[in-house]
Amino acid sequence: MKRVVVLSGAGISAESGIKTFRDAGGLWEEHDIMEVASYEGWKKNPELVIRFYNARRKQLFEVEPNKAHLDLVKLEKKYHVDIVTQNVDDLHERAGSTHILHLHGELKKVRSTLDEKLIYELSKENCEIQIGDTCEKGSQLRPHIVWFGESVPMIAEAVKLTELCDIFIVIGTSLNVYPAASLLNYTPYNAQKYIIDPHDTPVFGVKNLKKIMTKATEGVAIVVEELLKSA
Ligand code: OAD
Repeated sequence: MKRVVVLSGAGISAESGIKTFRDAGGLWEEHDIMEVASYEGWKKNPELVIRFYNARRKQLFEVEPNKAHLDLVKLEKKYHVDIVTQNVDDLHERAGSTHILHLHGELKKVRSTLDEKLIYELSKENCEIQIGDTCEKGSQLRPHIVWFGESVPMIAEAVKLTELCDIFIVIGTSLNVYPAASLLNYTPYNAQKYIIDPHDTPVFGVKNLKKIMTKATEGVAIVVEELLKSA
């Protein structure tokens, strides 16, 4: 079976109603990125950080995967598909994709500030944490998110998958954030690459690249149909 790697970003979840970060009206226009998404921000004002992620998590329980998430699952009939996502939502999981690697963490989970292996999943009914909520060892819980200034432990695995792929599909990411943005550089020279994004993502010198400048729901349908026909 040929191998497909999908690198998804906030744009794939936009049509589910989750705001992107850097578009007009995006989250980083409303919030100071370093205040709510960095380790320094957490040290300075953990309450603000917890409130920010509580609100995002609450919203996540109210949205659904869209056609783009669902269409990607169809590829699994004929390809081995690995989804490498920068998104902290669980919409690829809920759509039914089976191999998903979260580069930037998972919104529904929280973890111990003492022992990063102590990870807890929150439910719709109990979807918030507060200052004073602790792990079983007694230390404060924090969002299970990779913040700016923190390492990205899953990147090594993502690079391995990317180096092995036959087809690489980038969906809805501005490719502003590293190391995720560097994954395109690890694709095999001859692999077929696609970028699906309504805006022209500035990528140069990549061979076999097809840009599909549409929303994810339209672009993913086009690529999935093409790949299923040619499998
Ligand atoms: P960005 O907000 O930087 O980029 C979103 C991309 O989605 C842009 O290129 C848009 O053109 C595109 N887009 C918007 N609507 C779309 C649609 N309906 N269909 C397809 N594409 C659409 O989001 P990311 O690149 O995902 O990290 O951001 C990367 C990281 O920066 C995030 O994971 C997050 C953020 O800071 C952390 O918080 C650690």
